[in-house]
Amino acid sequence: MIDAVIGEFSGWLATTSLSHTIQTTGWIIPTVQTIHILSVAIVFSSAVLVDLRLWRLLNRDVPLPEITRRFLPVIWPVLAVLLITGALLIIGEPRRSLQNSTFYIKMGLLAFAILLTAWLQWSVSSSPNFWDKDRGRRLVGQLAASVSILVWCGILFAGRWIAYTQAG
Ligand code: HEM
Repeated sequence: MIDAVIGEFSGWLATTSLSHTIQTTGWIIPTVQTIHILSVAIVFSSAVLVDLRLWRLLNRDVPLPEITRRFLPVIWPVLAVLLITGALLIIGEPRRSLQNSTFYIKMGLLAFAILLTAWLQWSVSSSPNFWDKDRGRRLVGQLAASVSILVWCGILFAGRWIAYTQAG
């Protein structure tokens, strides 16, 4: 039932004039993909720099609240750019993503990564020593940082994998 609705929606989306313009103007897809990838680089590196600081592998002499203030705020506007460029890629070739379970895995992982990143940002802004209170807290922080790195890598992998699992 849901597959039929998604199939019908994808078919309709492909007939819209915006989709037609994206499909027939050669430079649009590479340009949008380039912006998507540059945005991926910003979001991924910002999140991982904070994760590595939680592991005390990087910038150990800089307080964690300073690191989160420096790197996490940029993630939110750049995620909006990813949403817009991702939506344009979908409109240009709706079936490729909307009828592909890998795309939904990527969106699920992204929702999780957003919640985890927002939680890390909130924890440090509400209590600067949150992750340094005791040994247990430090371990939980390192676990959260490891999960964050794995989930962001999962999103990258799923983003690339869409191309190899598209509907026939
Ligand atoms: C915010 C919502 C997002 C949407 C709607 C979206 C959507 C898309 C779409 C439709 C594609 C093209 C897939 C294909 O046709 O092969 C794509 C590619 C990709 N996305 Fe996203 N994306 C989003 C966010 C992200 C994020 C947050 C990351 C990673 C941090 C990411 C990483 C990638 C990668 C690595 C590719 C492959 C690029 C390529 O090989 O050309 N995306 N995305």
